[in-house]
Amino acid sequence: MKIVTIVGARPQIIKAAAISRAIADHFSHAITEVIVHTGQHYDDNMSEVFFTEMNIPRPKHQLSVGSGNHGVQTAKMLEGIETVLLAEQPDALLVYGDTNSTLAGALAAVKLHIPVVHVEAGLRSYNKSMPEEINRIACDHCSTLLFVPTQQGIQNLLKEGFSLDTKGKASIDCPKVFKTGDIMFDNSMYFAEKSREKQRIADELQLQDGQFILCTIHRDSNTDLAENLSSIVQGLVSIQELSQQTLVLPLHPRTRKKMGELLPPALLETLNSRSGIKLLEPAGFLDMISLESRCSMVITDSGGVQKEAFFFQKPCIILRDQTEWVEIVAHGNARLVGAKQDAMIAAFEFFQGQESLSYPPIFGDAHAAEEICRLMLENL
Ligand code: UD1
Ligand code: UDP
Repeated sequence: MKIVTIVGARPQIIKAAAISRAIADHFSHAITEVIVHTGQHYDDNMSEVFFTEMNIPRPKHQLSVGSGNHGVQTAKMLEGIETVLLAEQPDALLVYGDTNSTLAGALAAVKLHIPVVHVEAGLRSYNKSMPEEINRIACDHCSTLLFVPTQQGIQNLLKEGFSLDTKGKASIDCPKVFKTGDIMFDNSMYFAEKSREKQRIADELQLQDGQFILCTIHRDSNTDLAENLSSIVQGLVSIQELSQQTLVLPLHPRTRKKMGELLPPALLETLNSRSGIKLLEPAGFLDMISLESRCSMVITDSGGVQKEAFFFQKPCIILRDQTEWVEIVAHGNARLVGAKQDAMIAAFEFFQGQESLSYPPIFGDAHAAEEICRLMLENL
């Protein structure tokens, strides 16, 4: 079977490592994978670093689409992916997650009657003002095989009319839905071991285990609105003061740019000059999971990072009003605080007093990627 895999943004490049590894280790006799990079993310530390350190096969096709408004960016990807699909004639197209690259891949393939395989299907935040929510819904409804990481994802799809009947041949009109566990749990466990083999950024920064807080911010609703960005940064400064711990912030390029443009000068100065706050370039994945596994707490608006906090058993403050990973909030391991500094501080104080959080096995057995490969071969 020949599949074309679409990657483009950081989280899906990282996700691709799990399936590519499963193919190389167990299915190389049966599955040929052709990787297409849309170029949505292009800085070395947003793209190249992951191919190198996670041993991901090099993309055969680089579309070099770059940044732009949603319409322009998605349209360029759609055109480029269609051309590749016509040339490659794959048996299926594989997409991950919920970015514009995901949407473009799904649309290009479904129009050419190429079966779409969606990994990380079924997730919903129920907030359609998020671009990712539209991408998720559209992609799921273009898909022939939907691989769902969690039970909540299955419930979401049932509400939208999907069936769990797995008899008969899968098709766009008769899609098949499978709960497989989360390939990012596979990746996090696999690379956590690799990460421990060398000194990492936490060592370079002389951070003590359990004595620093990790934070990432990149959602447009948090970075592009001055009021929200200022409130979050105020909250971070207060939490750093209260905790007396180092606050480590690997900054998405969008966030660094917007901080410079939108923050009041005095707040920007505090952020830049305070010794307990470390602003870093985007981290590689091995550094990132080292930070996640050694910190005391995570503060993030990232979908992936909030889940990795759970994998590494750290409490998490989510800088959003909703999440698609509802289980971690329902189970008390994370709190939704939006962009509100008071709510951030309250959540920080709440988690400081919590000694006994538990982390049940919600995300599978760390073999989701193998299961997905097996199911693709069985159903396509
Ligand atoms: C995108 C995804 C989001 C995902 C995130 C992961 C969509 C709609 N959004 O958001 O779901 O959580 O990736 O990180 O697909 N930039 C650079 N260098 C790069 C890439 C981006 O400087 O290598 C800057 C550019 O100014 C660009 C901005 O970041 O305009 C935003 O990039 P874009 O890919 O449009 O959205 P993200 O916020 O990264
Ligand atoms: N990540 C990384 N370096 C960073 C920030 C994030 O390697 O500086 C990883 C993180 O560990 C996770 C993935 O990127 O696996 C999440 O991507 P991101 O936060 O960009 O997007 P989201 O998951 O919100 O779509």
